[in-house]
Amino acid sequence: MARNVLVTGGGTGIGYAIAQHFAEQGETVFVTGRRTGPLKEAADRIGARAVVCDHTDPEALARLLTELPESVDVLVNNAGGNTDFDTGAASDLASYARDFRANLDANLVSAALTTKALEERLAAGGAVVHIGSIAGNRGGGSYGAAKAGLATWNIDLAGALGARGITANVVAPGYIADTEFFRDRLTDERRTQLVTETAVGRPGSPADVAGAVAFLASPAARHITGQVLHVNGGAHPTR
Ligand SMILES: NC(=O)c1ccc[n+]([C@@H]2O[C@H](COP(=O)([O-])OP(=O)(O)OC[C@H]3O[C@@H](n4cnc5c(N)ncnc54)[C@H](OP(=O)(O)O)[C@@H]3O)[C@@H](O)[C@H]2O)c1
Repeated sequence: MARNVLVTGGGTGIGYAIAQHFAEQGETVFVTGRRTGPLKEAADRIGARAVVCDHTDPEALARLLTELPESVDVLVNNAGGNTDFDTGAASDLASYARDFRANLDANLVSAALTTKALEERLAAGGAVVHIGSIAGNRGGGSYGAAKAGLATWNIDLAGALGARGITANVVAPGYIADTEFFRDRLTDERRTQLVTETAVGRPGSPADVAGAVAFLASPAARHITGQVLHVNGGAHPTR
């Protein structure tokens, strides 16, 4: 039977590849995002259902619930990004506080709120997968701090959902090309540096991340929970 899958931020980049992967497997896929146009176009291309939602907003999440089925098998908390790319350098403490909180909201609070909103609807035997980042291990200011927090918060989530046979894991990508993540901020030099850091000598693709997410949501991964799976081409080896 087809599973119900929600991919947050599924209109572009990594989220789109994840949604496409599940749709191609015959699952019923819901994608969200804040911009109606690109979201609907993406959903139409892959046969997914589009629901406009800002995952940092509790009221928007309450509205999202009215658009979703009673039971959700797979939740992918992918929506996020480095909000510092959209702002200039903070000129005073108040701006610094606003910008720091923006990254926590976009990458940590959004996933926590979405999971809380859907908690009762998560199907027994299902899976929650968050998209973290290599920055959670290596730095990256408030963005990296938010992604590190996501992995730490996930430990208790895995404990809470485990009794229902639901797994909760993080997939932490390194540099992934062909997304809107970097806006116009990625110089050729920086790109070369990011690729040089990998063992495989290439950027990751959104499909690389989708494969890892699909595995964690599959029957083969029912005893894997509370973990971080790194998808970074060896740029940050772990033991
Ligand atoms: N690309 C990389 O190198 C890389 C590396 C490590 C981790 N990541 C992580 O991977 C995830 C996906 O990023 P990406 O690279 O695919 O970039 P992207 O193309 O910018 O995708 C982010 C998506 O999330 C949506 N989104 C952002 N904030 C949202 C919110 N508050 N509510 C709802 N939707 C929201 C965006 O759509 P709207 O703007 O329309 O809302 C967009 O579709 C992010 O969590 C990012 O931090 C990316």
